[in-house]
Amino acid sequence: MVLLVGLTLLLGLFLAVLLFNPRHRKSGHKAKAQASLNVDKASKSYSKTEVSLHNKRTDCWIIIKNKVYDVTSYVEEHPGGDSILVHAGDDSTEGFFGLPT
Ligand code: HEM
Repeated sequence: MVLLVGLTLLLGLFLAVLLFNPRHRKSGHKAKAQASLNVDKASKSYSKTEVSLHNKRTDCWIIIKNKVYDVTSYVEEHPGGDSILVHAGDDSTEGFFGLPT
């Protein structure tokens, strides 16, 4: 009987530790998510001149809606073929959204 009570207390203690351990709390995850969100949000700026240097099939950056994308690894896979290179190193917003270039 004493053993049963002891075991129950131990189990209760174990569960309490699990419950109140900060690592298992939602707020802990939230803080972590927030931190990584901030990392993702950190952005770099490029001048048009700098982007224009990356205008080759083997080094291709494009600008879409004021954001710079390095699409080098996607050039060969692009379903629209080499059209992705039409404005390589330049603003490709219109072409990307299917507007006249
Ligand atoms: C995120 C992925 C993609 C990126 C970054 C991308 C990028 C581009 C860009 C920048 C252009 C226009 C270039 C310009 O005129 O300046 C373009 C054109 C085009 N893309 Fe994509 N593309 C993507 C995905 C796709 C997909 C999934 C398809 C088809 C299923 C596709 C089909 C086409 C076609 C058909 C054109 C026009 C071709 C032409 O007018 O000759 N693209 N793409």
